[in-house]
Amino acid sequence: MNDNTDLLPNLSHEDAFEMQMRGYSRRQVDEFIARCRSQIRDLEQRLARSLDDSEELRRDLATARQQALGAKPAHEEVSERIAQILKLADDEARSQKSKADDDIAKQRDEAQQDVDRARAEAREQAERMLTAAQEQAERAITSARAEAEKTLTASRTEAEQTTTEARKKSEAVLASAKAQAKKALDEATARATAIHDGAERRLNLLSTRHGETIKRLTDILDGVSSLVAAAKQYTQLDRAPHQVVDVHELLDSTLVMLSGKIPSGIRVVKEYDLSLPAIPAYAAELNQAWTNLIDNAAAAMGQTGVLTVRTGRDRDHVVVDICDTGPGMPPEIRERIFEPFFTTKPVGQGTGLGLDITWRIVVNKHRGDIQVQSVPGDTRFRVRLPVTDPAPSVSD
Ligand SMILES: Nc1ncnc2c1ncn2[C@@H]1O[C@H](COP(=O)(O)OP(=O)(O)O)[C@@H](O)[C@H]1O
Ligand SMILES: [Mg+2]
Repeated sequence: MNDNTDLLPNLSHEDAFEMQMRGYSRRQVDEFIARCRSQIRDLEQRLARSLDDSEELRRDLATARQQALGAKPAHEEVSERIAQILKLADDEARSQKSKADDDIAKQRDEAQQDVDRARAEAREQAERMLTAAQEQAERAITSARAEAEKTLTASRTEAEQTTTEARKKSEAVLASAKAQAKKALDEATARATAIHDGAERRLNLLSTRHGETIKRLTDILDGVSSLVAAAKQYTQLDRAPHQVVDVHELLDSTLVMLSGKIPSGIRVVKEYDLSLPAIPAYAAELNQAWTNLIDNAAAAMGQTGVLTVRTGRDRDHVVVDICDTGPGMPPEIRERIFEPFFTTKPVGQGTGLGLDITWRIVVNKHRGDIQVQSVPGDTRFRVRLPVTDPAPSVSD
């Protein structure tokens, strides 16, 4: 009998291990197993003794059988005796066996009970341990929670401090940004004001210049208007060719038309007799006559001198004198000046037709006359026109 653990099917290695795991010490488990083994050994010894007894009976039986074989007559008695003995032996063996079985069953039950108890104890212990562990865990959790809350409170305080600092910092940043913005705004305002002032000054200057320009334009327009009026007067375009006219109007319009050609160094003097009557005339053609005479006088004087336009009356004639302070002309030239194409001017400047045309207009068309007096510094062309309408000439 080396190992009887197999006789305890309810206490396997696993059971032993489980018991250990459930809190039984190794010693307790070993003691429990040793107790079980000792009981089993006891039972086995008893069983062995019963078997020995049975063997003895068998031997007796064999002996008896031999004797019976030797003594035939007592055969039946012997056989009966043997049967009885055998029955006794069998009964005894059976009883012993049953007893052993009962004991084993009992031991098994006990062992089972022990195991159950051990299990229950182990379970209880385990539960206690579990409860303890749970309690410990709860305590740990509670303390950890308290710790965490402490940490949380601390970090919350820290966070609040950080937030306060951050708020202070951001307020400082905001204040500095506001100050910068205000500075920039002030500078921009100053620049804008400067630009505005400059613009206003320029505007004032411009409006002053504008005023001057408008005045100049008005002057020019006035000049143009009077020029246009003079031109109309001079050309007599919108008038009848033959009419009663004031010679002063004709002279004035002619002077206006020629003002651009008369150098600024030549002074124009008008000596009008405003009592003169209007005379019947071909006004546009008379203007052409004045133009030719004034043009020659200005040409004779060059850049400086005095041009005198004088009117007067000589009985039934109106007299117009065109006088200049030029060099005059010698008699041999004076005799030829009314010839067509006679000129003393360079080629391209004179046509020699001015005085020829003037003659035709005054003498032929108006039945007037032209006289010339010329000494150096004083040359006079005198035109005389009749006050009453002469009979129109048929020759021109
Ligand atoms: N006021 C004047 N003074 C001096 N010479 C004059 C004057 N007017 C006319 N003459 C002379 O008479 C010439 C003829 O005049 P005109 O018939 O008008 O032709 P043009 O002027 O083309 O020469 C002139 O070239 C000039 O010699
Ligand atoms: Mg001329």
